[in-house]
Formats: sequence, structure tokens, C-alpha cells
Amino acid sequence: MASNTKYGSVVCLLVLGVLTTPIASVYTLTDQGGLGARFDGVGGLSGGGATSRLLVSYPEPYRSQILDYLFKPNFGAALQILKVEIGGDAQSTDGSEPSHMHSADDQNYTRGYEWWLMREAKKRNPSIKLYGLPWAFPGWVGGGEAFPYHRPETTANYIVNWILGAKTIHGLTIDYVGIWNERIHDVTYIKTLRKTLDDNDLGHVMIVAPDGGWVQISKDIMADPELAAAVDIIGSHYPGTHSAPMAQQTGKTLWSSEDYSTYNNGTGASCWARILNQNYVNGHMTSTISWNLIASYYDDLPFPRAGLMTANQPWSGHYEVSDPIWVTAHTTHFTSPGWQYLKGVGHLDGGGSYVSLTDGKGGLTIVIEAMTHQYSQCVRPLLPPYDVKSGQVATFQLGGAFENITRLHRWDSKFIGSLAEHFQKQDDLLVSGGKFSIAVAENCLYTLTTVKEDAPKLYPNPPKSAPFPLPYKAKFDGPADSSEAPYFADQTGVFELYVNESSSDHVGTLRQNLTERPIVWCNDADSAISVIGDYNWSNVSVSCDVMVESGGGAFVAARVDRGGCDVRQARGVFFWLLEDDTYNWIVSSDLSRNHILGQGKVNATIVGQWHKLTLYAKGDSVAGFLNDGKVLFDITDAQLPTKNGFAAIGTLGFQKVQFDNFAVDKSK
Ligand SMILES: *[C@@H]1O[C@H](CO)[C@@H](O)[C@H](O)[C@H]1NC(C)=O
Ligand SMILES: *[C@@H]1O[C@H](CO)[C@@H](O)[C@H](O)[C@H]1NC(C)=O
Ligand SMILES: *[C@@H]1O[C@H](CO)[C@@H](O)[C@H](O)[C@H]1NC(C)=O
Ligand SMILES: *[C@@H]1O[C@H](CO)[C@@H](O)[C@H](O)[C@H]1NC(C)=O
Ligand SMILES: *[C@@H]1O[C@H](CO)[C@@H](O)[C@H](O)[C@H]1NC(C)=O
Ligand SMILES: *[C@@H]1O[C@H](CO)[C@@H](O)[C@H](O)[C@H]1NC(C)=O
Ligand SMILES: *[C@@H]1O[C@H](CO)[C@@H](O)[C@H](O)[C@H]1NC(C)=O
Ligand SMILES: *[C@@H]1O[C@H](CO)[C@@H](O)[C@H](O)[C@H]1NC(C)=O
Repeated sequence: MASNTKYGSVVCLLVLGVLTTPIASVYTLTDQGGLGARFDGVGGLSGGGATSRLLVSYPEPYRSQILDYLFKPNFGAALQILKVEIGGDAQSTDGSEPSHMHSADDQNYTRGYEWWLMREAKKRNPSIKLYGLPWAFPGWVGGGEAFPYHRPETTANYIVNWILGAKTIHGLTIDYVGIWNERIHDVTYIKTLRKTLDDNDLGHVMIVAPDGGWVQISKDIMADPELAAAVDIIGSHYPGTHSAPMAQQTGKTLWSSEDYSTYNNGTGASCWARILNQNYVNGHMTSTISWNLIASYYDDLPFPRAGLMTANQPWSGHYEVSDPIWVTAHTTHFTSPGWQYLKGVGHLDGGGSYVSLTDGKGGLTIVIEAMTHQYSQCVRPLLPPYDVKSGQVATFQLGGAFENITRLHRWDSKFIGSLAEHFQKQDDLLVSGGKFSIAVAENCLYTLTTVKEDAPKLYPNPPKSAPFPLPYKAKFDGPADSSEAPYFADQTGVFELYVNESSSDHVGTLRQNLTERPIVWCNDADSAISVIGDYNWSNVSVSCDVMVESGGGAFVAARVDRGGCDVRQARGVFFWLLEDDTYNWIVSSDLSRNHILGQGKVNATIVGQWHKLTLYAKGDSVAGFLNDGKVLFDITDAQLPTKNGFAAIGTLGFQKVQFDNFAVDKSK
């Protein structure tokens, strides 16, 4: 951790003169002869999908502390861009996020947690830039087709509504907007979006396209001046630090608009350090955005802990300020969007890289990384082999506006090995005659800067990690931090807290509220499902009151083995109550009901009536009860496909179903 001790650590502080490798190159840093590109900032991406889901439920003071580590200037990551998902009612990697328009005549700008997150980010850093991007769209946008581009005006208005809602409801200015995450772009749609923005006095909102690959958008821009005028930034994903030559030929600003995606230990941090520098050095990209901002989703959903830090235990308050936070600090504490790169950026002769940036007023920040191939591989793409020599000496010659600098403040980090250090303030480095040398150690990250800053004073350690507490009960009676119920993580469909004032016994409920399949980004299940709890849950009882509003059915489940884009293949024990003439209850070992363990018909009216479903699982046995004790099944089957997993609730299809009095406990 960063500390206030002046001589924090010597891990990256090799002494010049005792080095064996005779690599001692000289690198010139000057503004004479012009500067490089404008620096646009380091960002984090919340969503794509539901990656901040559990954060909003954290108790204070921990929730504010976490937000400080992400956004507060000169503290933790001090992010300069916050990118969020424009919820599309569909699964987008670790869950689904609600749309601001479930239907054509519906508008609500208070659903979900991204609005809250953007407000909290702005509260801490009013100059943070905001960027919105859709993964999925509500079904109605397609007008009958599972595609958002058939009716470009409709889709553009839908997106512009979100930007207008941000302003009118939350006072948030959106700076950047994207097209359709990692899916095909459409030239007519992009032009229509530009026109719709302009027509709504949103000329300042820049379009980033395509949030996918480099090539097709670059070809389209080169061939079409009107498109070229509509697109401000070409954003590519996981570029492996390189951009296509054709993208550079467009003359557009280039971004790595989604990157990282790597488990946030020392390797992940070193990956992040390497790409933050080399995305500019190799690819001329002026912003890099981390997917994801914060790992606030259950560890057993896809890409566990692929965030700058981890906070996925709101019940305990436990969180981890992971290493990528401090990597980010190395750049963000000593730059701002609008600074410019010097032409003096590149690879070190002994391996690793350096970038230098200036505020144009004599301020200088140099970031040097020497991350080894072994310890800095990101999840994707494949990293071609390269060498980093141990103990190289880099000498920098400062010229132009920097010629009279006499000292540089120095910060070191190393995330690999038992002797790790995190953002340690070191003694100033003295510059003599515009020249200084630094011994660059393997896997170390250095910032040398004219920007003076004290070491951040960190919060005391948060509470210890603890498993999800049992028994757990949810009555859905509020108050709530968002439209969603705490700890429930929607994987298909949208479950929203609902208040029915005219009901006597079910006033506050949780309601699956989608009636149409969205324009999906993944292969969402045909059934809506929201998971909760602990993947390790094995011998549990799950119960819930359900009310099928007008048709279809509902389920409770235990031992659900997956969510995310594979949710359609989820297995577990699912207890269904259906509106059906032949069988109105079923127990299946999968969400798609291909494997039926038992079924039958009970004398009960399903639609419009509340029923209590209770499911017990213990070892190889599962039992189900309806209402007050009627046993519908009691099955022992050594072939049950899962032994543990989440608890869940859900609906047969996209139908309105309400849930109340949810409870999970260890089975007796
Ligand atoms: C970080 O985690 C990844 C994935 O679990 C693992 O492969 C890697 O060895 C870890 N790195 C370190 C330094 O522990
Ligand atoms: C550096 O100092 C010299 C001598 O005082 C002065 O002439 C020169 O303008 C200074 N350079 C800058 C960039 O301030
Ligand atoms: C918008 O949604 C929120 C969260 O579900 C809800 O509390 C609020 O009543 C809704 N507003 C309107 C006008 O429907
Ligand atoms: C459900 O969606 C409708 C629009 O389709 C909206 O009016 C309502 O507020 C949503 N939420 C709930 C909990 O019903
Ligand atoms: C609200 O409660 C009343 C009274 O129980 C009931 O008749 C009505 O169907 C409920 N509405 C919804 C949408 O659940
Ligand atoms: C689940 O159990 C495994 C093995 O006992 C343990 O390593 C892991 O931390 C547990 N996960 C949770 C969320 O408690
Ligand atoms: C089903 O339940 C209703 C109401 O409780 C009752 O009148 C009817 O006789 C029952 N039918 C059968 C076949 O048990
Ligand atoms: C679940 O119950 C079975 C049967 O009693 C037992 O064998 C098994 O060890 C239990 N599992 C856990 C994780 O407690």
C-alpha cells in the first residue's frame, strides 16, 4: 500500500553502478519540434454487463471508501473517464442491466445503478468524462426484428433519450457515446445518431465507433466524408497495444475503448501497466479503458475479479484495493485529459517502455514500465514473446521547456514476487544539466514527475471477508438503493421492486417486468432468471411466494451452476409452477427443462394467485412443497448434475411474475 513514509521501499530502487547489464541508452524528452497526441485519460467501464451490481448495496462507510478509491482525485485510481453500459434489458456478460425504455412509451431514468455511479463519480471529480454504450436493446427498438439498425431514427432517439435523461434528471453531461458493443456497426445509423444528437443541442457529445475492431470502420470513414465527420474517435477493443495502419490513416483519435479483462492480481496489474504505456507507444491510442471498473459481481460468474479492484461482499463490507488501482494512479495522479504526449515515447533498449506527457506549461510526467513477458500477460490477445533485461540503466536528456528541471518526484511499484510494493513515494530524483539516469528493474513501474503530491492516506482495513450469511430473507419492502433487490443478480430478464398500494399482504414485491425478448448481446435464456447468494450452497432450502400475473409460470431454484452468457445452459434444481393443462408443476435439473426429474398436476389456480414454492436440497435428495405443506415431490437421484450453486428465482418466459417473501436457509 502507499504509505507516508518517505523512504518506503527499495524494491525497484536499484543502485546505479552495481549493475551488470551494460545497457545504458539515452532517451531525449523535449517539446522542441512539436508534441505528440492529446492524452484523453484512463477509464473504467461499469457494465457490459452488470459488473457493478453488488457495489450499490454496500453499507457505509465502505461504499464511499470504495468510490473514493475509484474516483477521488489524487487518491486511488483517480479515473479520468467513466464508461457505463446503457442498459438494454439483456445479458451482457455478468448480468443484465435495465433499460430506460422497456417499451416505446415507457421512460424512466432511475433504474439500475449506473446513474447513481455516474453521480458519485462526478461528485468526487467534476471533470471526469462520461461515456455511454449499449450492449443490448429492448425488443421494441427492433420493430419486430432482433436488430437495432432497421429503424435508425428509433434507435438514435432511444440512445439520445438516455443522454437527455442523464442531463435533465441527474444533471450529468455525457461526453461520449458509442454504437453497439462488439457488434456490427451501420453507417446510416451512425450518421442518424450524429444528426439526432445535433438536433437535440448535443453537438458536444462525441461519437466513438465502433467499440469493436479497427478495419471496417476505418475503411468506411476513408470512403465517406459524411461518416468521417460524424465519428470523432475510433475505439477498438483488446488491441494488444497495436492499431491498424488504416485506422491511423483516418487521422482520427484512436482509443482502446475496452481493454484489460484480466484477474486483478500482480499479473493483471502488470498487464495493465504494460498496456497503459504501450497502447500509446505502439498503437497511438490516447485513452485506455478497463473492463471492468470494479469486480462487484459474484466470483462464480464469468471473468471473476477482472476489475481494477474487487468489492463483491456487500453483506460483510469487505473489499480489496487491488493492484491495478495503483497502476492507474501512476498515470492519473500526474496527468489530466488535455495534457499531451511528447514525441519522446518508446521502448527501452533493454525491454519495457516509457511515455512522457506535459501540461504545456513546463510540467512533465514520465511513466516507465519494465513488465516481463512471464508476468504481464493479459487475458487477450496472445502476447508475442519479448525480453526484458534485468538492471538496465536509462538516461533521459531533458530539453526545451524541461531543460531547467532540477528534480523529479518519484513513485515506484512492483506487483510481482514476495517483495511487492504499491505506489511508493521515493526520494526525489535529481536532474543535473537536464540529465538523469534511472536503473530500471524488471517488473517495476516508475513515475517521475514535476507534479508534487503527498502519499495518499488510505482508509483503515475494511471488515474481513465472510460468506453470504444464512438464513437470508428478502421481503422486497424497501427502502432500496436502486430499482433492483439487494444481492439479486439478474441473468436474463429484469426484476424490479414493485409497490402495489392496493394489496393488503403483498405491497412490496419483486417483479419480472419484461414481456418481450430483447435484442440480445448474448444468447439469453428463454426463461428470465435472477441468481443470489453463494456458489458453494449445497444443502439448502429456497422458498418464495410467486404470483404469475397473466400467464406462463415461475420457478425457484437451488444449486444453479452458472450465469453470464452461458445462462441458457444453467443446471441445478428448478421447481416450476406453470399455467398448463397437463402438468402444472415440474422439477427439472436444467433451466431449459430438457431434463425433467418429476412433474404432476395440482388442483390450484395458478394465474393471478399467490402460491408459496419451497424447494429442499440435501445430498442426492430434492423435495418440493406447495403452499402450506403439500408435498409435490421427494426424489432421490444420484445423478443430480450439480452439487452446489446459487439460489435463483425466475419465470417461464418473458412474462410478468411477482415474487415475495424469498428465503434461503441451510436445509435441516
Ligand atoms: C494471477 O492469477 C492468474 C489467474 O488465476 C494466474 O494464472 C497467475 O499466475 C496469477 N499471478 C500471480 C502473480 O499470482
Ligand atoms: C532555463 O534557464 C536559462 C537560464 O536562466 C534561461 O535562459 C532559459 O530560458 C530557461 N529555459 C526555460 C525553458 O525556462
Ligand atoms: C421509475 O423506476 C423507479 C425504480 O423502479 C421507480 O421507483 C419509480 O417509481 C419509477 N418512476 C416512474 C415515473 O414510473
Ligand atoms: C415495468 O415496466 C413498465 C413499462 O413497461 C413500467 O411502467 C414500470 O414502471 C416497470 N416497473 C415495474 C416494477 O413494474
Ligand atoms: C395489486 O393488488 C390488488 C389487491 O390485491 C390486486 O387485485 C391487483 O391484481 C394487484 N396488482 C398487481 C399488478 O399485482
Ligand atoms: C467455496 O468453497 C471453496 C472451497 O472450500 C472456497 O475456496 C471458496 O472460497 C468458497 N467460496 C465462497 C464464496 O465462499
Ligand atoms: C379443486 O379445488 C377446488 C377448490 O378448492 C374444489 O372445489 C375442487 O373439488 C377440487 N377438484 C379436485 C378434482 O379435487
Ligand atoms: C450435504 O448433505 C449430504 C447428505 O447429508 C452430505 O453428505 C454432504 O456432505 C452435505 N454437503 C455439505 C457441503 O455440507
